[in-house]
Amino acid sequence: MADTGAHGSTASGAGAVGTSGAATGGTATAPAVLEVEGLSAAYGPVRALQDVTLRAEHGRITAVLGANGAGKTTLLRTISGLVRPTAGRVLLGGEDVTRAPVEAMVTKGMAHVPEGRGVIAELTVDENLRVGALFRGKVPSEEFDRVYSFFPRIAERRTQTAHTLSGGERQMLVIGRALLARPKVLLLDEPSLGLAPRIVAQIFAMVRHLVDTEGLSVLLVEQNARSALSVADTGVVLNLGRVVVTDDAARLAGDEDLRHAYLGF
Ligand SMILES: Nc1ncnc2c1ncn2[C@@H]1O[C@H](COP(=O)(O)OP(=O)(O)OP(=O)(O)O)[C@@H](O)[C@H]1O
Ligand SMILES: [Mg+2]
Repeated sequence: MADTGAHGSTASGAGAVGTSGAATGGTATAPAVLEVEGLSAAYGPVRALQDVTLRAEHGRITAVLGANGAGKTTLLRTISGLVRPTAGRVLLGGEDVTRAPVEAMVTKGMAHVPEGRGVIAELTVDENLRVGALFRGKVPSEEFDRVYSFFPRIAERRTQTAHTLSGGERQMLVIGRALLARPKVLLLDEPSLGLAPRIVAQIFAMVRHLVDTEGLSVLLVEQNARSALSVADTGVVLNLGRVVVTDDAARLAGDEDLRHAYLGF
């Protein structure tokens, strides 16, 4: 586990739980790929995100944790432009992309794997992967081979139609498809949902491997806080649309009060 050297920073406002060594104003040690500043979003009267500030660092996994309805999916949808913020900014590699069209986000280097692992059921595994690279024009076959090498289970099933895949295999396929877009930052929404612990461990280990060997940067949204913190570098806890605490993942996992209050383990 990499030590970010970052100091824990609790959000100002009610409900913040202290962490060991917590102090305001975290010190970052790696360049930010993605910066979210004061982001707010609403669905009519429902204020789903309120003044959320966080950063995803290069070559790191940043986990965003929180209970059902905390605003995790809304955060990813607002970052990738599917939901328009009512306030705040999103910076990708230092560029303000807050108002950029959704399709431009992909070409700028943001890949979003939404909740529910949407494969195109009628297409084969191979065809699904090709969809991820469509906007890039001709992609060398070695890149597909590389993605298959990360996920041998889907390599064995490349001519099968996607509707025949298990949940875990679908998750591998949608992550593989996102990798073919060559993202600077990968946004993953609840990859563990409904999967057996052994498969979750495999998928998280592969994400960690990609970060360590390919320089990928990941913003991982998870309700399964225990598993997410075991692979992440940094954790951000959301509650009712607000950041409660940001800290080193190992420190968050070791904070019993915080775990009981917000993380459910
Ligand atoms: N399309 C929508 N219209 C209205 N309200 C919505 C919509 N999507 C989400 N919400 C509300 O916004 C809040 C945050 O929801 P969100 O889906 O972002 O939470 P989440 O943390 O991803 O939850 P889960 O762990 O269940 O996926 C909730 O109160 C939810 O009811
Ligand atoms: Mg969600």
